[in-house]
Amino acid sequence: MNHKELITLLEGADDNGLFAEADRLRRQEFGDSVFLRGIVEFSSHCGRSCAYCGLRGPNTNARRYRLTPEEIHEAAGLATAHGLGTVVLQSGEDAAFTPQTLAGTVARIKSEGKVAVTLSIGEQPDDVYRLWRENGADRYLLKLESLDRNIHESLRPGRTLNGRIDRLHALRRLGYEIGSGIIVGLPGVDSAMLARDIEKLTELELDMISAGPFIPHPETPLADARPGSVILTHRVNALLRILNPLANIPATSALGVRDPEGRNTALSRGVNVIMPSLTPQKVRGGYTIYPGKNALSVEENLRVIIHGIRSAGFTPTSAEGQSPRYTAEARAAEGRLPSGEKTTLTG
Ligand code: 5AD
Ligand code: SF4
Repeated sequence: MNHKELITLLEGADDNGLFAEADRLRRQEFGDSVFLRGIVEFSSHCGRSCAYCGLRGPNTNARRYRLTPEEIHEAAGLATAHGLGTVVLQSGEDAAFTPQTLAGTVARIKSEGKVAVTLSIGEQPDDVYRLWRENGADRYLLKLESLDRNIHESLRPGRTLNGRIDRLHALRRLGYEIGSGIIVGLPGVDSAMLARDIEKLTELELDMISAGPFIPHPETPLADARPGSVILTHRVNALLRILNPLANIPATSALGVRDPEGRNTALSRGVNVIMPSLTPQKVRGGYTIYPGKNALSVEENLRVIIHGIRSAGFTPTSAEGQSPRYTAEARAAEGRLPSGEKTTLTG
């Protein structure tokens, strides 16, 4: 697909054809199954100042909390209890949480049962990523948010686009399954830029790719910006599926906030993953990266999500849900596949 075609499809030239092709590829690789990932949002403290995010350090109205290792462990245990094959540990960039503490938590979770552990804790030096990997972390999510250098660097003060891409490469070298993605509808992003984002994300050969709509938070510099479009988010997900048939692609919680049916609809437009929050009730409402996040209790949210998946005609699974792209690459690296085959599988 060339750049022009991408732009036309993003602008709605052929939604029916686009969604049908995304659905076909999704079913070819994943059938009707939906992987569930339970997220534990273990700290709402953050030293960064991303312009779009309610947890940015300068927001003095944000409710800050930090779970103890025991509380994180307990919340993670809910994943297995509810048949979710992956736990995602996510937080702001919280300097008070030491890499060693988290390594201990990961090791404990991994020692207790068969569950994949994904980390989503921002940009860290190689030795920190290595420590976590050695303690059992399987995957890492580091969203690029926008791959346009000007937009990225104006919205994420103090950080660079290339620096963040470099961290993704470091994670891949350490053997993590890597995930990234964008926020759809950030102010200043037009269709051509969005098409470039999709192309560049595809070049990164990611195991997981996510795209959720922008939701303005009243206590950020982007309070008055327009929210990201739901239909545009569906188009981005569908295009990502077509260009990355083997990647895991989640329906983001932000999509569910913008449209109560958004995540269920997305399942038949290329997405194959949903990530319910397992963050404990007493702090749950404090993880306000955008308004509306974590509005339901853990149990109610899970109930709504599983019901939604079934009503949309899909099957929730408790599989760990490793990316078939990662599996194929790991096998190729071990020399069990001729290297030529690797190229086909990841193309
Ligand atoms: N709207 C939508 N998504 C957001 N994120 C942060 N702020 C917003 C917002 N206002 C997303 C980013 C981040 C993830 C944790 O939440 O993609 O990586
Ligand atoms: Fe912090 Fe992440 Fe929010 Fe940026 S997006 S302010 S790093 S929590």
